Amino acid sequence: MTKVVIFNGSPRKNGYTIKLLEKVAKGAESKGAEIIKFDLNNPEIRGCQGCFYCRTHDGCAIKDYLQPMYKAITEADAIVFGSPIYYYQITGQARVWLDRTFPMLGDNFSPRHSGKKLITIFVQGSLNPEIGTEGIKFLNNILDSYGWKLEDSIHYCGTSESAPDLAEFEALSLRAFKNGENLVV
Ligand SMILES: Cc1cc2nc3c(=O)[nH]c(=O)nc-3n(C[C@H](O)[C@H](O)[C@H](O)COP(=O)(O)O)c2cc1C
Repeated sequence: MTKVVIFNGSPRKNGYTIKLLEKVAKGAESKGAEIIKFDLNNPEIRGCQGCFYCRTHDGCAIKDYLQPMYKAITEADAIVFGSPIYYYQITGQARVWLDRTFPMLGDNFSPRHSGKKLITIFVQGSLNPEIGTEGIKFLNNILDSYGWKLEDSIHYCGTSESAPDLAEFEALSLRAFKNGENLVV
């Protein structure tokens, strides 16, 4: 069975990021995938302590809410990541998570868990897509260095507008659902 691990970097329980992530999950589930979700806003998540345990071990020394993600990622066929853009970047919560993914790299920074499909989702208040471009490139490039193959990257802009483009959101929701379906081989 295809295993999909989803990381939600938005603290808003009813925000646009989570809605798009849910669409990916529904698409994958409709094809029989198993879904495992991690809420990166969980208060039990600790930041990387820089102990370098992961330089000599395939895993992390911190025993917290994120600890099960290492086994989940190892077993996963696909990874889905979503975050709003906060100050031109992924959220602080997502950034803390990113440091905790350092175990994905082993000797000479070679990937330990390559070969996974990847979908990324970003949402921002401004209508100007360039606001999020650098943050998106930053995240996608790091996950690419893990040997995760980017299948699609969705970027919904303009949520702070008095009338967000709901037709566009609908189209992206459909794209997210299809992305989820396509994760299942
Ligand atoms: C602390 C903070 C910083 C933000 N910075 C930006 C920004 O730099 N550019 C932007 O377009 N929107 C920015 N926003 C707006 C969010 O990207 C927007 O509200 C988005 O819809 C949040 O995603 P969500 O609906 O999944 O919660 C910021 C919001 C917050 C709370």
